[in-house]
Amino acid sequence: MSKIYITTAIPYVNGAPHIGHAMDYLLADTYARYQKGLGNEVRFQAGTDEHGNKIAKKAAELKIDVKDYVDQNSNKFREFIRELGAEPTDFIRTTDANHEKGCQEIWKKLEDHIYKAEYEGWYCEGCERYVTDKEYTENNGVCPDHNRLYEKLKEENYYFKISDFKEQIKKAIESKEMAILPDFRAKEMLELLKDSPDVSISRPTSQLKWGVKVPGDESQVMYVWIDALSNYLTVLGYPENDISDFWPAKVQFVGKDILRFHAIIWPAMLLGLGLPLPKILHSHGHVLADGKKMSKSIGNVVDPMEVLEAKGLPAFRYFFLRHIDTFADSDFTWEKYDAAYNNELANDLGNLVQRLANLCKKQDLAGIKDFQPEKDAKYLEIMDSLYFSKAFDYTWEKVQDLNREIDDKKPWEYNKKIKASDEDEAEKLTAELHGVLIDMAQKLLNVAHLLAPFLPETSEKITNIFTAEKITPPEVPLFPKN
Ligand code: MSP
Repeated sequence: MSKIYITTAIPYVNGAPHIGHAMDYLLADTYARYQKGLGNEVRFQAGTDEHGNKIAKKAAELKIDVKDYVDQNSNKFREFIRELGAEPTDFIRTTDANHEKGCQEIWKKLEDHIYKAEYEGWYCEGCERYVTDKEYTENNGVCPDHNRLYEKLKEENYYFKISDFKEQIKKAIESKEMAILPDFRAKEMLELLKDSPDVSISRPTSQLKWGVKVPGDESQVMYVWIDALSNYLTVLGYPENDISDFWPAKVQFVGKDILRFHAIIWPAMLLGLGLPLPKILHSHGHVLADGKKMSKSIGNVVDPMEVLEAKGLPAFRYFFLRHIDTFADSDFTWEKYDAAYNNELANDLGNLVQRLANLCKKQDLAGIKDFQPEKDAKYLEIMDSLYFSKAFDYTWEKVQDLNREIDDKKPWEYNKKIKASDEDEAEKLTAELHGVLIDMAQKLLNVAHLLAPFLPETSEKITNIFTAEKITPPEVPLFPKN
């Protein structure tokens, strides 16, 4: 048994969760369940990123005390994670006293690589980062991700010497000591690394009040990304605790937009602290709505609660884990969602379970008590590559195989034949029919096993039906059509 640590990005709490936020949690939860299924001990972190001007300004706009505001929104994320059926073992808030203290300790440990200097440049508050002059010109002075003008900032800040670690980071990415998934993103990060300047890691208190104080300098507050990235360690109790049971993380799940922080600043921090690098940085694509980035100004933002309520949790997990490609951008539309529910969950799986259980019930068959799932090397290989939507596709092929098999073998035709046969022949045919049904029930149980990390509830229901004292179809089909 190994101890495995997996992490998710901690969202800003300047609003309620949106549909894109689901991805980190669903992917991490699937992996956590998979690893637990293999018998490993999993520590699974989630949390909220609560500092920075973006959040302080939003609270001021709403005339709410900033602490009350972050409390409210942090709770919404916690609730959202629960609604998604994700089960993190830890939930960290960057306003937790322990986290703030841990951050300051981390800063002190990095002091050999920190210097103070004046800087003038273009800043995007949406991204919470300075952009280069080249990016400023290319984007005509407007951040394409946040549709807001870059601001000119001139400040005296602390800098973190990324330059001290560039060579080591490059080697770690190239050798896959810190693997970046998908592969093409590793190449992107190596390119970015080449031109990465030292990063400004503090802001004067005159500009930013809502943050962790720089130790030993009351006039400066830490840059939100230094504060936020530290969460992956402080949640384990670093630096007080020995974290070697769980660190380095096995997989860190992040969206493609924030991979750069995790592939450059984060490993530099870890190297500065003398800690090993995470094994895998997994960067997922974005959920789009009608082919476009979701934005309040376009008015195409999809409310995750509405999607969850429409067809329930298994349908939500099914769509986002299978039809949203694990690595590429993919589209959510209500049409696609409805089609996936009706054609795949209801027809392919729900009907199969219902038909097979009905046929078994008519024969008064007992469930398979001592069921042991078969080892499926291909499935394990795809799951280990962390391409979950592919592993889900593979599992669905098995569902389709079973549908083909039941249509080929036509077990419902046996009854007529049995009735028309003499006793000996009827006995033979009955035994054959039972053999066919039990063999298919066995295969369906194997499918349920493969489905477990994706659709735990559905997997359990199928398992219960076909391992029960007597096989009985559910009163309400697993996925009633609507
Ligand atoms: N606070 C930072 C993360 C700090 S981690 C140390 C942040 N927050 S965020 O709220 O903007 O994003 C949180 C996560 O949601 C990120 O992994 C981000 O990529 C992901 N997503 C945000 N929009 C998304 C989609 N439309 N689709 C998929 N994931 C998206 O960045």
